Amino acid sequence: MKICVVGSGYVGLVSGTCFADLGNTVWCVDKDDKKIDMLNNYQIPIYEPGLEELVAKNHTSGRLKFTTDLDSAVKNSDIIFICVGTPTSKKNKSADLSYVFNVAYEIRNYINKFKIIVTKSTVPVSTGDKIEKIILKKRKKRLFEVVSNPEFLREGEAIRDFRFPDRIVVGSNNKKITKKIESLYNPLIKKGAKFFSTSRRSAELIKYASNAFLATKISYINEIANLCEKTDVNVEDVSIGIGLDQRIGGRFLRAGPPYGGSCFPKDTKALTVTGDLFKTNLSIIKSVIKSNEKRKIILTERINKILSNKIKNKKIAFLGVTFKPNTDDMRQSSSLYMIPFLLKKGARINYYDPSGEKREFSKYKNVSFCKNIKEVCKNVDLVIIHTEWEEFKVIDFKKLTKRKNFKIYDMRNLYSSENMKKKRFKYYSIGR
Ligand SMILES: NC(=O)c1ccc[n+]([C@@H]2O[C@H](COP(=O)([O-])OP(=O)(O)OC[C@H]3O[C@@H](n4cnc5c(N)ncnc54)[C@H](O)[C@@H]3O)[C@@H](O)[C@H]2O)c1
Repeated sequence: MKICVVGSGYVGLVSGTCFADLGNTVWCVDKDDKKIDMLNNYQIPIYEPGLEELVAKNHTSGRLKFTTDLDSAVKNSDIIFICVGTPTSKKNKSADLSYVFNVAYEIRNYINKFKIIVTKSTVPVSTGDKIEKIILKKRKKRLFEVVSNPEFLREGEAIRDFRFPDRIVVGSNNKKITKKIESLYNPLIKKGAKFFSTSRRSAELIKYASNAFLATKISYINEIANLCEKTDVNVEDVSIGIGLDQRIGGRFLRAGPPYGGSCFPKDTKALTVTGDLFKTNLSIIKSVIKSNEKRKIILTERINKILSNKIKNKKIAFLGVTFKPNTDDMRQSSSLYMIPFLLKKGARINYYDPSGEKREFSKYKNVSFCKNIKEVCKNVDLVIIHTEWEEFKVIDFKKLTKRKNFKIYDMRNLYSSENMKKKRFKYYSIGR
């Protein structure tokens, strides 16, 4: 099939590349000409394992093209995927849909024959109706169909998630169009992906309800971890014990920092706004948001306690600053709260992240990026394991620093408390 993907960020670039890899011809469009120039020169603007090779393979074959020219990309395609951002609005907690609507205003000018317009961006229920209205002002109904196909891929696992999704959800009120989208996904369905078709509005809500549920699971186990710390219980035993119940399931029950990233924080907030708009109080999700906000304060207070309320002039090393491993995405990472807080209290911060230096910290004086674990841990008072990158799981702490009294705060429970105690480290973790 001939596909146009509008927005070449985490979702658009991965989806476009994977669709090309399935044998389709794909035009990846972005308004950011620097991004498109990079991609045309085989450089990848984001960190996503395996993506560089896949882009190179499909770009070389001619199936994957990068352009800022939306006009010809739309005219040459049968299916148009909208993959632009839907960040939290600057005015309130709702999703800012201006990027999505701008795409609708633009593409309606270029519709020359029948097009299927698919929203992959995460959008509140009834956004598809609004996109349809925008296009209807310029093009006849018989020339297009608006479909919802929310994306569930996770950064860091994006290619695998695209190729082997748990499910593919397609929302359309037109059976023929659903069949067409199903045939696009047929190679994945043949390999075991479940295909679920529903109404457009249901598909839109499924995405938000999924993300809010996962965010709830994280906040839930984080609160249970708080109780574990007070009652001498190991939260990991609790996670295993409850996760073995198939009605609950063991995934997303790892206590740690607050949930972050580009999706859960904004999507939980936007869902409560939708609830309010439709006069439905989503009180559980509202508490989850509050609990998550509180989480970063709880963990920072714990750092203070570990350092005996003496943060001033302490040298603190952060291992990882992204919200999760295998991504360079800093959006809503708890390190963005913790590091400035500690700096304000007079700490000196070194950080190392395998995805590289972060511009978010360049404005601060006492923050340095280090190139490896050894350098970041040199003469530190406290090592904070913030993100569970693979290379942080096998550190020989004894070899790292000459300072004998340094402490370790493992926010991801990567090490065994017992072993660390045996080795006489001053080791602190979560919910244990
Ligand atoms: N990042 C994820 O893990 C993830 C997972 C599932 C769903 N989503 C959803 O997918 C959507 C996209 O997320 P993302 O993380 O890929 O965003 P992103 O910010 O990485 O990428 C969006 C891209 O769209 C481009 N863009 C904006 N307006 C444009 C226009 N008019 N024409 C062409 N390009 C335009 C931007 O330049 C940018 O490159 C969001 O709604 C998000 O909630 C994200």
